[in-house]
Amino acid sequence: MHIADEINIISRLCRIGQEFSSSTDLDELLAKISRCSSEVCLSESASIILLDEEAGEMYFKEVSGGMGEIIKKIRIPLNENSIAGWCILKREAQIINDVANDPRHYKKVDEASKVKTRTLLAIPIIWGDKVFGCIEAINKKDGKLFTEKDQEYLTVLAHQAAVALNNVYLMGNLRNFFNYSVEILIAALEALEPFAKGHIIRVARLAVTLAREMGYSGAELENIWYAAYFHDVGKLARESIYMSHQDLEKVHPALGASLIENIKILEKAAPLVRHHHERTDGSGFPDGLKGESIPEGAQIIGISEEYDEMWWAIRDNMNRQEFNKEFLEHVKDRFQQAIIEAFRGIVEKYHNPDYVSR
Ligand SMILES: [Fe+2]
Ligand SMILES: [Fe+2]
Repeated sequence: MHIADEINIISRLCRIGQEFSSSTDLDELLAKISRCSSEVCLSESASIILLDEEAGEMYFKEVSGGMGEIIKKIRIPLNENSIAGWCILKREAQIINDVANDPRHYKKVDEASKVKTRTLLAIPIIWGDKVFGCIEAINKKDGKLFTEKDQEYLTVLAHQAAVALNNVYLMGNLRNFFNYSVEILIAALEALEPFAKGHIIRVARLAVTLAREMGYSGAELENIWYAAYFHDVGKLARESIYMSHQDLEKVHPALGASLIENIKILEKAAPLVRHHHERTDGSGFPDGLKGESIPEGAQIIGISEEYDEMWWAIRDNMNRQEFNKEFLEHVKDRFQQAIIEAFRGIVEKYHNPDYVSR
């Protein structure tokens, strides 16, 4: 290999770590690992084989270079009879430049992909004592053979891939913890107010639909979603179970905001929770804010909450169309004009706006 080519690959490897760590989505990350593996060791394709420890099997999760989606359906038993199994169990890289004569080659893959494997380089993806799986670079370009240098380069890449994969899995665990904690909170709230079953989910869906209609996206939209989920969490923090319903209603926005403001990812949602009962005519609480001084996100949640509460109280005696009309009349001096117009838009578009999914 020419020195200029080597320098190119080394500088590519330096950038790859950063590229991998910017991925928070597993599929996106695996696609990057597979594409970069082919680039770094100049192979026709590369696949990522992951380990399913529970099932004692391995499976293709990502393939590049036209090997086709079909091989993703193949499950390979985890033992030393296949090259990937050998590589994963022994935690050893394998260069095989005469695949046809290696009895470990799993022929079903060639049959399914219609690609004849001539040469193969397999590198385990290891993080601490955990093996995620392996990378297989298939067929060195121009009929050449894989070298020790290719193995070195792909090992560096596999190490960076392991760091990034570990981060993605950790984040997935945290997200899972967060989502289930939210569900537990909602269940606790609904146990306190059984008549409000489903209220939080409906308000969250409606608020997100409305925010989207108003052009919210990305982190700002996510913030509305969080705030809507936690909008009534203050009801859990009543000082005494003997507190009256009316008193709790007055204090729950401020209590809720104080409960979540120290949670880093919810700190921007806290003001929306605090102000979700403020109304533009100053009739709301806890701060009696007026007009534009009320955060727009708080008004989005407020109108969604009010719509849900009123509809569920009246739904046996009125049809949805009539109610939508009356509701828009009822809120006209109490919410910012842009919000009312957007709300009118989603009511006209969806008719039953609280059933629109996220
Ligand atoms: Fe509320
Ligand atoms: Fe509510």
